Amino acid sequence: MSFLSRFSRTQLIIGGLLTYATGVSAALTFFPSGAKTDPNAKDTDMLPSESVRRSIFDTLAPGYDKEVGLHEYLLGIQRRRKRLLQQATGRVLEIASGTGRNVDYYPKGCCGEIVFSDFSEGMMEVLKRKVEESELGRRWDYQRRRGKQLEGERRAQLRHQQQAGDMATATTTTATTAAAQPTQVVETELRFQTMNAAAIPYPDQSFDTVVDTFGLCSFEDPVQVLKEMKRVLRPGGKLLLLEHGNSSWGFMKDMQAKQLDRHVHKYGCYWNREIEEIVQEAGLEVVEEERSQLGTVYFIVAR
Ligand SMILES: C[S@@+](CC[C@H](N)C(=O)[O-])C[C@H]1O[C@@H](n2cnc3c(N)ncnc32)[C@H](O)[C@@H]1O
Repeated sequence: MSFLSRFSRTQLIIGGLLTYATGVSAALTFFPSGAKTDPNAKDTDMLPSESVRRSIFDTLAPGYDKEVGLHEYLLGIQRRRKRLLQQATGRVLEIASGTGRNVDYYPKGCCGEIVFSDFSEGMMEVLKRKVEESELGRRWDYQRRRGKQLEGERRAQLRHQQQAGDMATATTTTATTAAAQPTQVVETELRFQTMNAAAIPYPDQSFDTVVDTFGLCSFEDPVQVLKEMKRVLRPGGKLLLLEHGNSSWGFMKDMQAKQLDRHVHKYGCYWNREIEEIVQEAGLEVVEEERSQLGTVYFIVAR
């Protein structure tokens, strides 16, 4: 009996597909596609400054989704985004939103407000368009317009009641009280904020949830950004992180170190940071943690 004949056809097909997916994904990870953003960049060049990396993100923005889409699919990143955002509640600040790859994963009605932010104008442009076209954005737009319409009707009713003031009766008193209530139709308010995450322009303890996905690899000073996220988080609030960093496997660590210069010049991303150390240094308490994909992908809930 041959080795392969021990498995059913379905098992063989699934096994083959998984092997293929892992292979392609590893190839994309280790050998990112050709063209360098800066054609003169060499592996020996100095690592780019924050402003240079901001312009790298501006340049990457229009093609970013296409560039990372297959890679994320093969690594099961969408599933992790969805699982992470199940925990988003109340007033939410999303840091370094990029092109808005989380937009479709916020559960319907999860949150009173979501602020999407980034420091790259190019990313913000793509992000706004994607939010507008998403179900979340369309619902928000509809509810906003409906709210305005109802508010107009409410004001007209109030004016009408004021004109008929001296004819007030018990019935109109009830109607006046109802008309005096502002119209609240929008379920999840959406806002956009261009900002550097190292200095978040919001007061202390102003959010119930702060989200960051694949941002720690891109910040000049990730510890400072995490401290800022903690500052704006309300007591009892949650910090939701999905990140990539240094692998827990030696061969992969070596590969990441060898490719670092190239990767930073092309993607503005330091892909071999020690995420657990960074989180610890920022003084956060980790309440949930999971590492996958040879230890390079970190799913962290902290406070
Ligand atoms: C790898 S992308 C991740 C985008 C998105 N969060 C996602 O999950 O696909 C990193 C993002 O961080 C943003 N970024 C880098 N440094 C930043 C900073 N100091 N402040 C705000 N955004 C920053 C970049 O513009 C870019 O959009």
